[in-house]
Amino acid sequence: MITSEIIARKRDGGKLTRQEIEFILSGYLSGAVPDYQMSSFLMAVFIRGMDLEETENLTWCMLNSGKILELGFIPGVKVDKHSTGGVGDKVSLILAPLVACCGVTVPMVSGRGLGHTGGTLDKLESIPGFKTGLSIEEFIENLKHNQVSIMGQTKDLAPADREIYALRDVTGTVPSIPLITASILSKKLASGADALVFDVKMGSGAFMQSKETALALARNLIKVSKKAGRRSIALLTDMNEPLGNAVGNSVEVIEAIDTLKGKGPEDLLEVTLTLGSFMLILGGKANNFRKGKELILEKIENGEGLDKFKQLVLQQGGDPAVIDDYSLFPKTNYQIDVKSDEKGYVNAMDTKEIGLAAVELGAGREKLDSDVDLDVGIFIRKKIGDPVKKNEELAKILANDFEKGKKAEQRIKKAFRITRQKAKRLKKVLSLVDEKGVRELPTG
Ligand code: URA
Repeated sequence: MITSEIIARKRDGGKLTRQEIEFILSGYLSGAVPDYQMSSFLMAVFIRGMDLEETENLTWCMLNSGKILELGFIPGVKVDKHSTGGVGDKVSLILAPLVACCGVTVPMVSGRGLGHTGGTLDKLESIPGFKTGLSIEEFIENLKHNQVSIMGQTKDLAPADREIYALRDVTGTVPSIPLITASILSKKLASGADALVFDVKMGSGAFMQSKETALALARNLIKVSKKAGRRSIALLTDMNEPLGNAVGNSVEVIEAIDTLKGKGPEDLLEVTLTLGSFMLILGGKANNFRKGKELILEKIENGEGLDKFKQLVLQQGGDPAVIDDYSLFPKTNYQIDVKSDEKGYVNAMDTKEIGLAAVELGAGREKLDSDVDLDVGIFIRKKIGDPVKKNEELAKILANDFEKGKKAEQRIKKAFRITRQKAKRLKKVLSLVDEKGVRELPTG
């Protein structure tokens, strides 16, 4: 087989066989296919797409690039959740310990920041000492003792995703349904989870901006999971404004800890409770949506979720003292207030621009080998529907480089749309998608 011919066939809209996909992926991992050819292949897939069979084959090839964990010796249904990527989405940090203390084991394999969206691994690594590059043995030990562990793709687990994810991040090839499906599922199927909950984000800060494309992604994730013998559901959630108020790495960890202490923002809590409730249903610990939410809320109120988070930090080498003393996170050099030029109501936000402002500050990667600044970030002070006075603060920027801070300020200012008429607050959880179709969420 010849790599350039496979690329050209996809470029011309042809269908690839499993052997061809395998040839490109294994060649990339061994070094026989260089970055420039892989980038070109990814762009061809991005533009031409893949049908379901090709997407399944891409997923299996990425999954089989590493080991697949078998967790049958751990009692109960193992359940994981994954988001398709958003701005300010720190739900995994809150959800994983809460669900674990309700008795469902959560083997979570996560990713880093991608494009304008943040990643769970970068956020966790802002906790001094926290290690996400675990060995499979360490991951399993944590699951046995604490029912929860969060690790990244390694050379053993979904290595193809690790390499391709980093390349997609810097080649404009992220928002592709087959590439996102294979990326998420190769990690999730490798982690040993029996059932999966997908948080499919839609809106101005998501990779899928319209309901139509978000639904297509949700359906793809569910169909490929079913083929792999996993039960799954997807929730479509809003990403037309950042989730919660903090955007960055350590700032998001602090907001997640606040949420575990019962002091989190309402929208973040609502999305967490909803996703968590479905994890408990799939894990056999709740028989309806209302009961699942109640169980999770109870674990916030009685402090067990926070204790579980402390154990998670400890077991992965992090310093749990940060949980009670946020001053242990390094301070940034500058704080810049983003002020409104006019009076009115926040009507809309270009959430992708806010994510890009965070990348501009250094919270994400602009190049394959960029270092991430774990301490910079943005606090959103006004959300959609809020009234704003002239010169009132829309956001606060934490920066280590003043020039970058000023550029981020311009982006954020442009991202806010202020109008005279009041806008409605956004509903956060939009629909439930499963094998039977799309439904509104049960109320209560
Ligand atoms: N999350 C992932 O793990 N992969 C993607 O491609 C997008 C979001």
